[in-house]
Amino acid sequence: MDNFILFAGTANPDLAAAVSQKLNIPLGKSLVECFPDGEVNVQLLESVREKAVFILQSTAPPVNDHLVELLAFADACRRSAARRITAIIPYFGYARSDKRHGRREPIAASMVAEVLQAVGVTHIVTLDLHTPQIEGFFRIPVDSLTAVPIFCEAISPHLPPNFVVVSPDTGRVQMATQYAQKLNSSVVVLHKHRKSGTETEVTRVVGDVKGCACLIIDDMISTGGTLARSIEALLKAEARPEIMIAATHGLFVKDARAKLSHPSIQAVYVTDTIAPTETDWQQLKIVSIAPLIATAIKQFQVDGSLKDLCLKEV
Ligand code: R5P
Repeated sequence: MDNFILFAGTANPDLAAAVSQKLNIPLGKSLVECFPDGEVNVQLLESVREKAVFILQSTAPPVNDHLVELLAFADACRRSAARRITAIIPYFGYARSDKRHGRREPIAASMVAEVLQAVGVTHIVTLDLHTPQIEGFFRIPVDSLTAVPIFCEAISPHLPPNFVVVSPDTGRVQMATQYAQKLNSSVVVLHKHRKSGTETEVTRVVGDVKGCACLIIDDMISTGGTLARSIEALLKAEARPEIMIAATHGLFVKDARAKLSHPSIQAVYVTDTIAPTETDWQQLKIVSIAPLIATAIKQFQVDGSLKDLCLKEV
C-alpha cells in the first residue's frame, strides 16, 4: 500500500475523510483556491512523481465547478509526472446526457469523458453509473461499482412484509432485479414519460402492487419528481401506503424534500456520494460508501479484481 497518494477535491470532505480513515492514510496535501472571477486553481503540496494517484471528487452541484476542479487536479498530477491517475467520481454528473434524443444537442457525458482523458486520467472509478453504456465513451478502463449490496444490508431489517421492488422506469430494471434477488422479492416496473427536465408522468404500472408495500429504487433523486409521480401511480394501483426509497445519489435539488414529504414514505435511503444538504429530516437515512471506495483502492494496489464490487448483468 505504498507509493500511492489519495487527493480529494472539495465536493465532499466528509466522504474523503472517511475513506482516508478506512485506508489508514492521510489525504494528499493540496490547495484549492477559487479566484474572485470564479476561476479555480489547484496546487499539489507534495510530490506525485512516479506515484499512483487517486483523486476523489464527485461532480455534484455546482457540477461545473467540481468538474473543472477535478480536471485541474488531474492536469496538475500529469504535469508533475504521476505514474497513474485514477479519478474516483462517486457521482458522475452529466451522466443523464448520454444520447441526443433526435435533437441538435450535445452528448455531455461523452464530452466529460473526452476532457477527463485529455487531461491525463488513466482510469475511472464511479458508482451506479446512470447507464452502463457511458463506459463506451472512454478509451480507458472504467469500473462502475454498485451500492446495491450496501443498501440491501441497511434496509433489509426494516422492510415490511409483502413488499415489491419498484423500478421507476425501464432504465432501472437491471438494478431493481438485483435488489429483488438479494431481498427475495419481485419487480414491478413503471413506464415513465418525461415531459421536460422537471416534469414526468407514469403512464403504466407493470406488475401487481395491490396490497403490497413498495421499495422504490433509483440511481438518483434530483428534483424528486420521478419519485413523487411514482408514489401517486403506485397508490392509485392500490399499493399499501408503506413506501421505502433507495437511491444511490441524493442530489435533492429545488423542492425535492417537499415533494418527498408524502405521508406514505417511511424512509428515504441515499449514500454519501453527494455531501448531504438536507438535515433534520427523520426519514432520510444516509449509508456510507467509504468502505466500498477504500476496498476498491486496496484492490488497485494489489492489481486485484473489482468484479465483486460492480453491478452484474442479471
Ligand atoms: C432518470 O432516468 C433517472 O434515473 C432518475 O429517475 C431521474 O433523473 C431523477 O430525477 P428527478 O428526481 O428530478 O425526477
